[in-house]
Amino acid sequence: MLRVLVIHGPNLNLLGAREPELYGRARLEDINNELEALAGELGVAVSFFQSNHEGEMVDAIHRAAGQADAIIINPAAYTHTSIALRDAFLATGIPFIEVHLSNVHAREEFRQRSLLAGIARGVIAGFGLDSYLLALRAIASNFNAK
Ligand code: DQA
Repeated sequence: MLRVLVIHGPNLNLLGAREPELYGRARLEDINNELEALAGELGVAVSFFQSNHEGEMVDAIHRAAGQADAIIINPAAYTHTSIALRDAFLATGIPFIEVHLSNVHAREEFRQRSLLAGIARGVIAGFGLDSYLLALRAIASNFNAK
């Protein structure tokens, strides 16, 4: 069975209350519940990790080596700044999809650059909670279990 790790970056623990006009009303727990339900339908295994700390996210990617076949990551603000997250993906070679709730390309210029997108298998942005669900579907139909 394909094993998928979902990593949520900084401030995403506040979803639901945080700038709902941009990020929607769904809480992180709601997103994880919907992913869990879809994973059941698709026959894949999902696990979840959230951190507000860049180094903890790096550690989670390292731990996933040999444990996860794919990662769905919303790196949040670290998308635009983190060479360390990029290097963690390069070091482990775990294939991943970058997701965003908002359409980062329609926002401030500093959000339009991603240090991860160039090494991701794909990027999905702008569909709120559905960005994550679409990523899970893409993994289920395009990725192979090891
Ligand atoms: C975000 C977009 C980022 O620019 C921002 O820093 C976030 C959330 C999104 O999901 O739309 O925290 O990744």
